[in-house]
Amino acid sequence: MKVAIASDHGGIRIREEIKTLLDEMGIEYTDFGCDCETSVDYPDYALPVAEKVARGEFDRGILICGTGIGMTIAANKVKGVRCALCHDVYSAKLTRMHNDSNILAMGERVIGPGLAREIAKAWLETEFEGGRHARRIGKIAEYEDHQGGK
Ligand code: RB5
Repeated sequence: MKVAIASDHGGIRIREEIKTLLDEMGIEYTDFGCDCETSVDYPDYALPVAEKVARGEFDRGILICGTGIGMTIAANKVKGVRCALCHDVYSAKLTRMHNDSNILAMGERVIGPGLAREIAKAWLETEFEGGRHARRIGKIAEYEDHQGGK
């Protein structure tokens, strides 16, 4: 598995914690910034990561900002991306099992690094269940294909 990870200035500490986790789990990743603590714009980090995941250059993405909400909104604009904002382990497991989410978003002003690590670990380890959930995801993909007119 190859993971693309990025944060804005509001998510640097959790990004570092998740990189340590990825190292421990032996998962390959690329860090797409940001490189400083001065204020940056979350779409500049969410959209490139989302596009790389949508194109299949990376299997999964992890995005962190202050709340995780801006990253989630931006990433989900990219066709083929299913970005889930998770601040608990149960949601992280279920969004993999039921939504086959390919990007995880978290907010550093909402949760601490310890919980973020547990959430990311569960999300990375949990498989998609398929079946009826694949049908439901298919309906979203079908909508994406026809958005803007049939
Ligand atoms: C930056 O101040 C903050 O707005 C950003 O990190 C994020 O929380 C947006 O959703």
